Amino acid sequence: MGVIILYGFFCALLLFSLFKKHWGKPQQRGNLPPGSMGWSYIGETLQLYSQNPDVFFATRQKRFGEIFKTHILGYPCVMLASPEAIRFVLVTKADLFKPTYPRSKEQLIGPSAIFFHQGAYHSQMRKLVQGSFSLKIIRNLVPEIEAIAMSTLESWCGGKIVNTFYELKKFTFDVAVLSIFGDLDSPIKEKLRKNYCILDKGYNSFPLSLPGTSYNTSVLARKKIGQILFEIIRVRKEKNSVQNDFLGSLLNFKDEKGEILRDDQILDNIIGVLFAAQDTTASILTWILKYIHDDPKLLEAIKKEQKPFFEANDGGNLPLTWAQTRNMPLTNGVIMESLRMASIISFTFREAVTDVEYNGYLIPKGWKVLPLFRNIHHNPNFFTEPQTFNSSRFEVGPKYNTFMPFGIGVHACPGNEVAKLEMLILIHHLVNRFRWEVVVSSSGVQYAPFPVPEQGLPAKFWKESSANMRGQD
Ligand code: HEM
Repeated sequence: MGVIILYGFFCALLLFSLFKKHWGKPQQRGNLPPGSMGWSYIGETLQLYSQNPDVFFATRQKRFGEIFKTHILGYPCVMLASPEAIRFVLVTKADLFKPTYPRSKEQLIGPSAIFFHQGAYHSQMRKLVQGSFSLKIIRNLVPEIEAIAMSTLESWCGGKIVNTFYELKKFTFDVAVLSIFGDLDSPIKEKLRKNYCILDKGYNSFPLSLPGTSYNTSVLARKKIGQILFEIIRVRKEKNSVQNDFLGSLLNFKDEKGEILRDDQILDNIIGVLFAAQDTTASILTWILKYIHDDPKLLEAIKKEQKPFFEANDGGNLPLTWAQTRNMPLTNGVIMESLRMASIISFTFREAVTDVEYNGYLIPKGWKVLPLFRNIHHNPNFFTEPQTFNSSRFEVGPKYNTFMPFGIGVHACPGNEVAKLEMLILIHHLVNRFRWEVVVSSSGVQYAPFPVPEQGLPAKFWKESSANMRGQD
């Protein structure tokens, strides 16, 4: 813990020196929201990093209300924990709040990736991503996602201990690759996976560009990924084949002036989608496995819903149909409730592009604005007994604007349907064909950077037919 605090302290000081232009009393008229800006230089960074972030946000919400100011990681911030304020920032006045990411992260993913942009370029890219991950397109992916799910689950069997989160990252990577490139040759996919893993490891490291640092290794892996993708693009262009996948739509794109996308724009957006798709979906799936494991009655109920499909498909020998995936209300409720409980994207970041007034409060230009999704999802006014897992609460739709695991507004997640589809398919095969036991069962949470069960939920898996052999492993 001491190391984390020192690290946080060091980061805060460094970031302060880089961004101190944001610090200081704003000159504008209007009241700032209530809250504490903490100590000089480091604000409340230590308080945030030395305790559970949920506690940090919840205590301040209790003390100051649903809109409060603070100062973290070198930035003055306004935190929003009311659905109306979040809607104001992400939907109705979205043009006044731009997305904001540390420059080091922007460099690793690629500056042309969709989530760093606003305006015309963002809208163009968004149409492309939405089209490629629309229901019309992803419905055709069911058999291939199923094949990936089955081979992933089988690879875990035999009683060895697997790190569930780590293994699920392989699954979600493979599904993302499928939806981006269609069928990609195995050696190229493995090269891409290897380098993407290196990039991923350094993504949250301290951005020190010196030989041997994690960050620098990540930058080098990013370059290699670039070369691999350029080669895939070159071959695709040479073949001149029209394909329905995300790469196909990036290559076919022409704006109203007839301009096509540059290769670096294509590349940054592919890495962006890989990045957005992999850890998010793997984190939620890990939570789902934990929640189902910890509640045998829930597992039985899911099995009851899934078994008729399995039997209708000749014991899983025939592929799941799209219609079957649309008819799993209980499993769907489990996914929704897991998204709410785990709220893996606890908040997002925006920056005010001008002074903005909201409900009598001033949000000064340059301040960061953080919509706190998790606080909304765990607010007892919107979800009764919010700390209790209760998938039936989604039988009735949640109150307007109170459930936003995929965000809302112009940057809301365009991959939400494919994420839900891959979860449904994996759960279908998991409960019908496999049994599992969690080896380290605790309520601990680890940030990777999204919250995941402690140690990535180490577990043992068996095929259903050999489930009764468990004790012998
Ligand atoms: C359970 C899994 C997922 C969760 C919880 C999730 C959540 C989110 C959230 C909250 C945002 C909005 C962030 C903001 O407003 O700042 C977002 C954006 C985005 N997500 Fe997802 N996501 C998931 C899976 C995926 C998948 C599978 C894809 C692949 C297509 C994807 C692609 C994207 C992209 C490209 C954006 C940026 C959109 C834009 O800036 O217009 N996500 N996601």
